[in-house]
Amino acid sequence: MSTPTSTAALEALTEWWQDMGVEVDSARIDALMREIKPSQKPSDSQTKPTSTAIKPVPRRTRAPKNWVTEAETAAAGADSLEALKAAIEAFEGCPLKASCDHSVVYDGVPCADLMVIGEGPGAEEDRRGLPFIGKAGQLLDRMLAAIDRSRTKNTFITNVNYWRTPGNRNPEDEELDVCRPFVERMIVLGKPKLIIAAGGVPAKALLGKSDGIMRLRGTEHVFQAQDGNSIPLIPILHPAYLLRRPQDKSRAWRDLLLIEQRLTELT
Ligand code: URA
Repeated sequence: MSTPTSTAALEALTEWWQDMGVEVDSARIDALMREIKPSQKPSDSQTKPTSTAIKPVPRRTRAPKNWVTEAETAAAGADSLEALKAAIEAFEGCPLKASCDHSVVYDGVPCADLMVIGEGPGAEEDRRGLPFIGKAGQLLDRMLAAIDRSRTKNTFITNVNYWRTPGNRNPEDEELDVCRPFVERMIVLGKPKLIIAAGGVPAKALLGKSDGIMRLRGTEHVFQAQDGNSIPLIPILHPAYLLRRPQDKSRAWRDLLLIEQRLTELT
């Protein structure tokens, strides 16, 4: 197979592989992003507006530091969701940050009963600094509206990774590891009654499981929060996946009905 010659093509191919369950070689994707020369990028009229802003991830240049410990300290020092957002924005421990326009932390109603946790920002989210506002986010909004939930009324939205990855590849374990203390603290401070994990990446990261999303969805799990609380967690298919495979929307609908029923019981 020939190598994609534009960032848009590489992004599409990466997403396709990930949907098919193919293990994507992140280092290779990052290297290809660096190799794609400006002249090989498609013109504005050929590409989605969201794809032109991808920048390669720079290699770390400074002395190694224990960034997970730094993240734990920064997260523990935050006593409100706003303070936590500021701590994440000030954090320099994830190399992805250097290639991003924004740290994308959260949106919606602080301390809402329902917390949606996705995988990480895409191009549109990086451009505007808010989670789930691109096409997938618009579908997520419609899915939530179907069970009378919205980010303006009663839902909090965040991710397990705060910085856009090259080519929208899945975040690597080390990238998730430095975000993890912030995610944990977000859950303690946000006190959700129920968590939706939107997609396989957050479902696996939050539950510490290696099963794929098709196995994890359709049932309720438990997230063990750092303050000792056990919080029901329901994984759903990622809305970006549903845009590519609308035939799976009936599964998503069943999951939404389960979420609605559990929210009624829990609140
Ligand atoms: N997909 C995600 O998982 N999170 C976002 O914020 C946007 C798209």
